[in-house]
Amino acid sequence: MSSPKRRLLVTSALPYANGQIHIGHLVEYVQTDIWVRFQRMRGHEVHYVGADDTHGTPIMLRAEKEGLTPKELIANVWKEHKRDFDDFLISFDNYYTTDSPENEKLSQSIYLKLRDAGLIEMRSIEQAYDPVKEMFLPDRFIKGECPKCGAKDQYGDSCEKCGATYSPTDLKNPFSVVSGATPIKKVSDHYFFKLSDPRCETFLREWTQVKTPLQPEARNKMKEWVGQPGESKLGDWDISRDAPYFGFEIPDAPGKYFYVWLDAPIGYYASFLNYCQAKGMNFEEWVRPDTRTEQYHFIGKDILYFHTLFWPATLHFAGYRTPTNVFAHGFLTVDGEKMSKSRGTLISAHSVIESGFNPEWFRYYFATKLNDSMEDLDLNLQDFVARVNSDLLGKYINIASRSAGFLVKRFGGVVSDAAMNNPLLTDIASVSEKIAELYEAREYAKALRTIMELADKVNAFVDENKPWEIAKDPERESDLQRVCSVTLEAFRLLSLYLKPVLPQVTAEVEDFLSVPAMSWNDVKAPLSSQNPIKVYKHLMTRVETAQIETLLAANL
Ligand code: 2FM
Ligand code: ZN
Repeated sequence: MSSPKRRLLVTSALPYANGQIHIGHLVEYVQTDIWVRFQRMRGHEVHYVGADDTHGTPIMLRAEKEGLTPKELIANVWKEHKRDFDDFLISFDNYYTTDSPENEKLSQSIYLKLRDAGLIEMRSIEQAYDPVKEMFLPDRFIKGECPKCGAKDQYGDSCEKCGATYSPTDLKNPFSVVSGATPIKKVSDHYFFKLSDPRCETFLREWTQVKTPLQPEARNKMKEWVGQPGESKLGDWDISRDAPYFGFEIPDAPGKYFYVWLDAPIGYYASFLNYCQAKGMNFEEWVRPDTRTEQYHFIGKDILYFHTLFWPATLHFAGYRTPTNVFAHGFLTVDGEKMSKSRGTLISAHSVIESGFNPEWFRYYFATKLNDSMEDLDLNLQDFVARVNSDLLGKYINIASRSAGFLVKRFGGVVSDAAMNNPLLTDIASVSEKIAELYEAREYAKALRTIMELADKVNAFVDENKPWEIAKDPERESDLQRVCSVTLEAFRLLSLYLKPVLPQVTAEVEDFLSVPAMSWNDVKAPLSSQNPIKVYKHLMTRVETAQIETLLAANL
């Protein structure tokens, strides 16, 4: 380990408990998981937690539609999400739910601290109300005719036909999606987090512009949102919703519930608290303002506002530490277009597995596209097939299959210790810190390019030395053992570098090479004649183009 042991709490955004995990979600979990696995390999103390984001109107209404209670619905969805994350080798230390006693307690106590700090205000506001269903309607639950082009059945925020944006009150002939009734206006008391308070503005300006090494795009956006001193750009944040609502009740406010976005990020802490309790760890030590632990949130760029304004402000003014950093990624497109149900490109995680895909193909492909920016990334299906087959099979796996057979058949699996000084190996080992820096910086595409260049060198070494020809000459036994030993040690090093991305295949490699689970320091622990390798078994199959058709058909 090159740096002192760090202590990291890492999260991915919490998926809503009313839908399936799809490949767009997976980009983020894979991105986070690679980083987490890399940090573990470096010997740091890492805790990676997640949870389902369970509260709010859509979940409440969906449960009702399915004839379930919200708690029944979220319990079913939790199982599906957990299955999908396990299938894609996402190594959460704790996967929990925001509908937990820990979250209720934490949300309420955080709210009370904000109230004590004078940052909560009650105000009456007028909102759309469904007089039949007797509930207030979020914008997405009001439809009508576009005020601009007259298109029917448009949502309250924008027209899918002409692209106009407007507010629900502008719709012609509006109706409630829930009951079909015409919404009326109704006044109700709401609780606001006073982000416009000068203390919040000052804190957020400092936190986003000075204290936190945010991505440049994120920092610029925050500059725009927070504004210059005295500009008062931040509006107060409405954190309450009226009954009926599936969520936590607000203390001293009967019939009022926390808006889902108040308790969702607190759900990160609640999951961690639940984990700390199970492991006998000291939660307080991680969350107090003077802690030396680090806290990172991986998110999509669409929820930056919540994570770089609301969440740090909530934490800070409730007396907690703030995030060390927030890492936002871009959106996934498929073949250059937004994922679409009608084209079959809104691909669910489960359908990938059901269609016989190896999840590590996806982990690898996404990693070849990921960097530290918020740029969108594209899953090009033809390129996916070509890339996986050429890089993983043609370049990487091929190395082992070309050399292991001779070593086992002719030398009982025993490598030559003298071969471990070969310049090719020194060369490969010498870039270990460079690759580590790229992983650390979330520059996975660059890391993998570097690793594949090394794989090219190893294949060139095999091509030059032609073990299959040496094997025909009984005089050249030791040459054969040397060449195969160098090749397999090179394969071990490449496997070590790929381990954060391909945890399953590399676990099989560790078994086949008879080495313990590799950490980053094991760059310096070459194969040894003391531990003969085992018989090579096929490690990965090719992707067939026909599988893509099956996958798209499964999502139509
Ligand atoms: O945008 C979403 O999918 C939210 N469910 C993310 C919540 S992340 C966190 F704040 F809880
Ligand atoms: Zn329109």
